[in-house]
Amino acid sequence: MKILVTGGAGFIGSHTTKQLLDGGHKAIVYDNLSRGFKDLVDPRAEFVLGDVSEKEKLKKALSGVDAVIHMAAFIIVPESVRKPDLYYQNNVLGTKVLLGAMEEVNVKKIIFSSSATVYGDPLELPLNEESEIKKPANPYGQNKLDMERLCKDFGEKTGSDVIILRYFNPYGPGEKHSPETHAVPNFIKSTLAKQPIPLYWKGEQIRDFIYVEDLSRAHIAAVTANEYKIYNIGTEVGTKVIDVVNLIFKIVGYTVPINDLGERAGDVPALYTSSEKIQKDFGWRPRFSLHEGLKKTIEYFQTAT
Ligand SMILES: NC(=O)c1ccc[n+]([C@@H]2O[C@H](COP(=O)([O-])OP(=O)(O)OC[C@H]3O[C@@H](n4cnc5c(N)ncnc54)[C@H](O)[C@@H]3O)[C@@H](O)[C@H]2O)c1
Repeated sequence: MKILVTGGAGFIGSHTTKQLLDGGHKAIVYDNLSRGFKDLVDPRAEFVLGDVSEKEKLKKALSGVDAVIHMAAFIIVPESVRKPDLYYQNNVLGTKVLLGAMEEVNVKKIIFSSSATVYGDPLELPLNEESEIKKPANPYGQNKLDMERLCKDFGEKTGSDVIILRYFNPYGPGEKHSPETHAVPNFIKSTLAKQPIPLYWKGEQIRDFIYVEDLSRAHIAAVTANEYKIYNIGTEVGTKVIDVVNLIFKIVGYTVPINDLGERAGDVPALYTSSEKIQKDFGWRPRFSLHEGLKKTIEYFQTAT
């Protein structure tokens, strides 16, 4: 298939592009490089420098494309709280333009990067795709819900396939957001720099950490899905954040002090998901243990500039 990856110069998009190419697909990366890096883009991919709000450029890039994997977004939660209009413009209105372009050139499949954030603070664990959707705690979460809704409406209107992937906590090589608000890269960078690790809630929160190569592989399955589908992408294992810290210490062979930042408003105590649905439909399951994934991620940060 010929697949256009919006946001393909970012952390998850660059891994997914590589796996598409390895799997014999053709890939076009469409990215404005506002938050991405050209050097993360696989040289075998065609690269188009463009914004998802540029409809004519998109229409040209979409020529002959069978499916779109839509990852382009701003993703920093605290920034979304400070700049909700910017986030709405880039994420929600950008998605609207993309879907309009797809409709005009008759591209009838989209795989959309959503997030576990749509489940808020769940009453029951593990989550599954039928779990209740909660009012998001921040504009980024609201964007993801709005974008899901736009994709669903597009599918109903045009008869297109719409596959929503709700990611849990991705981590792995190539994660270089700025500022970085995610736990794993921050813990690793502090440890390698022999600096104290900033830790909220004494690390008692539970998360479902999914290695980026496993997450990317779920997209290779999803491009073959049809109609309207939602899949949660996680490992089915809830891990305490402090256990991630201790595993990092074990892998590097030393410890650094903890900088106890106390409690943080808006943090959900525990999130992890069943991945039974995608396992059943595609045989997808994670291949990397947390230990293996962290080891590879540490190796990346040891050599990254
Ligand atoms: N990283 C996570 O923990 C996580 C968790 C759940 C969901 N997601 C979703 O996965 C997707 C990818 O996340 P990531 O971590 O790889 O982020 P990232 O910031 O590394 O990548 C996003 C890419 O989108 C590009 N982009 C942003 N706005 C654009 C626009 N208007 N036009 C064109 N390109 C634009 C950026 O330049 C960047 O390359 C996002 O949609 C995010 O919401 C990420």
